[in-house]
Amino acid sequence: DKQHFRHFMLKEIHEQPETVELWLSKHLPIHAPIDSPIVLPYDASFYESIEQIQILACGTSRHAGMVGAYLLEQFAGIRTSVFFASEFRYAPPPLSPHTLTIGVTQSGETADTLAALSMEHQRRSVLDNNDFASFQLGITNSSESSLALQVPNILDIGAGIEVGVAATKTFLGQLLAFYGLAISFAARRKSRSQEEINALCEELRSIPKQLKDLVKEHNQLAESLAHRFADTEDVIFLGRGINYPIALEGALKLKEISYIHAEGYPAGEMKHGPIALLDQRVPVISIATEGIVFEKVLSNAQEAKARDASLIGICPQTVETQIFDSLLPIPKVSEWISPLLTVIPMQLLSYYIAAQRGLDVDQPRNLAKSVTVE
Ligand code: F6R
Repeated sequence: DKQHFRHFMLKEIHEQPETVELWLSKHLPIHAPIDSPIVLPYDASFYESIEQIQILACGTSRHAGMVGAYLLEQFAGIRTSVFFASEFRYAPPPLSPHTLTIGVTQSGETADTLAALSMEHQRRSVLDNNDFASFQLGITNSSESSLALQVPNILDIGAGIEVGVAATKTFLGQLLAFYGLAISFAARRKSRSQEEINALCEELRSIPKQLKDLVKEHNQLAESLAHRFADTEDVIFLGRGINYPIALEGALKLKEISYIHAEGYPAGEMKHGPIALLDQRVPVISIATEGIVFEKVLSNAQEAKARDASLIGICPQTVETQIFDSLLPIPKVSEWISPLLTVIPMQLLSYYIAAQRGLDVDQPRNLAKSVTVE
């Protein structure tokens, strides 16, 4: 039931504050022990023995995995790599000891992700050295999926049924699973101070309220901004650091439902090629959140502006961000938590651009909700 929403996608975007609330009530209870603030079903030895993590996924789930890898490496200090499951299947890296493999698939049915996980399990199990034992974890929205049958440890994101083909609330749910893992690893391995861990937990607790306001505000902003894309043929999305995967996700959302050509780039790569594409017909949507790469992203945006591109900023409203022609403002939060907010304007803008073109947003051409073939 779409309730009063025109499409399931719009309804599911609006459900995201609730997705976070539910997740927090289950995994970040107020009275949790200080050394393990996140409730996950693993014991201390799990967190201590792992030396490396590899994440396998496709599409939007891989973008969640990239944010996850940033958190696991930069917040929790564990070497982490992300792979396209379809590439990993045929070109896996050399085996490394004490490695956790995480498969991320909201449907739990994506053929390439399932096959990559099973191939990895197989090649580890033929070695008789315990260091190389297959340790796998599945992040999914379906505890009854093929993934759940195949992988013994499942983190169910509990986002509820998602009908729209374009993943929205399940992406947010996957991000939350990675926040949970990164905080747990950091707390158990003491790779972050108690204050830093508490600060991140507190920020997570404030997200549902911020998301509620943001979805409401951006619903209107995105709807009016979308009119400007009526004749647009190409869009560039820029981000850096923890928000680089959100730029990729913005581009994927836009292309899959509006059929507009879109590319996501790490902002620093612009000058190595894509800048040649820019002129006044190409909007550049740039995520500029405060943090270690803030100034850099602004100067990358300035370079785009010098090529007459029209600049849209997903950023806090400050003196520095006046360089943008249009703003999709987001509240000031720590860089760690920012992807949970910056993704909202991306989803809403793609939605309204596609809806205003009269397209079938929930059932885009050539796409299916689960890709069960290779
Ligand atoms: C994009 C989208 C796809 C899926 C991809 C993986 O909105 O929905 O890119 O993310 O097909 O699907 P799952 O997560 O089910 O493995």
